[in-house]
Amino acid sequence: MAETKLTMDKIVNLCKTRGFVYPGSDIYGGFANTWDFGPVGVELKNNVKRSWWKRFVQESPDTYGVDAAILMNPRVWEASGHVQSFGDPKMDCKNCKQRFRADTLIEAHSKGTVAAEAMTDEEMEAYIAEHDVKCPHCGVRNWTPIRKFNPMFVTSRGTLESDADKVYLRPETCQGEYVNFLNVQRTARAKVPFAIAQIGKSFRNEITPGNFLFRTVEFEQMELQMFCREEQSMDIYADYKAKALKYIEDLGLKAENLRYHDHDKLAHYAKAACDIQYNFPMGWQELNGIHHRGVWDLSRHQEYSGKSMIYIDPFTNEKYIPNVIEYSIGADRLTLALLCAAYEEQALDGGETRVVMHFHPAIAPYKVAILPLQKNLAESAKAVYAKLSKKFMCDYDEAGSIGKRYRRQDEIGTPFCVTVDYDTATDGCVTVRDRDSMEQIRIKIDEVIPYVDERIQFN
Ligand code: GAP
Repeated sequence: MAETKLTMDKIVNLCKTRGFVYPGSDIYGGFANTWDFGPVGVELKNNVKRSWWKRFVQESPDTYGVDAAILMNPRVWEASGHVQSFGDPKMDCKNCKQRFRADTLIEAHSKGTVAAEAMTDEEMEAYIAEHDVKCPHCGVRNWTPIRKFNPMFVTSRGTLESDADKVYLRPETCQGEYVNFLNVQRTARAKVPFAIAQIGKSFRNEITPGNFLFRTVEFEQMELQMFCREEQSMDIYADYKAKALKYIEDLGLKAENLRYHDHDKLAHYAKAACDIQYNFPMGWQELNGIHHRGVWDLSRHQEYSGKSMIYIDPFTNEKYIPNVIEYSIGADRLTLALLCAAYEEQALDGGETRVVMHFHPAIAPYKVAILPLQKNLAESAKAVYAKLSKKFMCDYDEAGSIGKRYRRQDEIGTPFCVTVDYDTATDGCVTVRDRDSMEQIRIKIDEVIPYVDERIQFN
């Protein structure tokens, strides 16, 4: 197997040419930090979201799903602290006028070895001066002091664009889980400990260059809040650290490219916080977070809404505001990590190289590609496609040599290619080729569905 260095450019290029992800508003020259998922990418990301929902909602009897509105009462963002203090530390380059986040400049300069989120603004300014951190755009060091920048997008409802009509595009999905704590607890008759989960879009006016899907202005989060008693909260926190790691390893991220990063500096209300970092082509970066948030969120919503968030234990009659353990992961950021992990340039006998995406079959965009050996077998191949596509997302391809068609499917990570040949009409069999081993077996058409089904499960 050839060892080649993976770069983000290779991933971006494959994504664009194979229909995973295109630049946003491409025909207008793009739109910074926005990306559009193409026919293959939308399947991949949907499968990633499904795998998370299956693991953390479907298979977790204590977890309830919601889909809350993106636009929320503006008081929510006062209660959460986003209006007053959700501020990124920005610096402008006085030479080329580009804007950057001081913490990401430091993390990029130190290749992820310095945890800038634990630094004060003064410490970050001192680090940048001491280590001569230059503008990544023009290469000059001529920075403004750090200023705070609120990355919430503001819009307005109604016809007047006054302050009274101001609403925010949510910068995180979890507030939709906190504000539904009482609704879910009552309607699901949920008993503490229980969790509320959702998957949805969030928006942040990010000023830092995004590294493809890593940091975008519009992205999807998969978030879960576990409401629990204080005495059990540290065990539940440890449990989610383990569950979060297991989930991404099960999806195909290698243990050697994953590490815990426990936070040294905590928010005043937090009891513990940890990121799981992935070794992306640009270095170690946060993939997801697990936070012990104490009673902060529910207490703040109680204060700002005037509604009691007190839970009454049905067995002991004890009354208390539950602690919250939050587990949060970006669907786009995870998709990027999985694209990086899946990519391989493989040297084949005869000097040929194939690019193959080794996705876990459960998240592969297409499970099966149906290929007639020759175009005149199209009719019987289409009949196989009609049968299999009732069960799985399938691709159909009759253009070019069979070898080229296999390569195309390897590049989009299709785990199985089913070839219909001249014997199919007489023996009722097709050839099934495995993406990773390239081995081929011949089985009855009726056996294809159970054969594939058994191999694409995510457990
Ligand atoms: N509710 C907690 C919260 O939002 P966060 O660390 O700001 O915490 C959680 O975000 C996760 O969301 C991150 O670990 C990352 O996976 C993803 N994420 C955050 N900002 C992002 C962005 N601009 N683009 C893509 N994903 C992002």
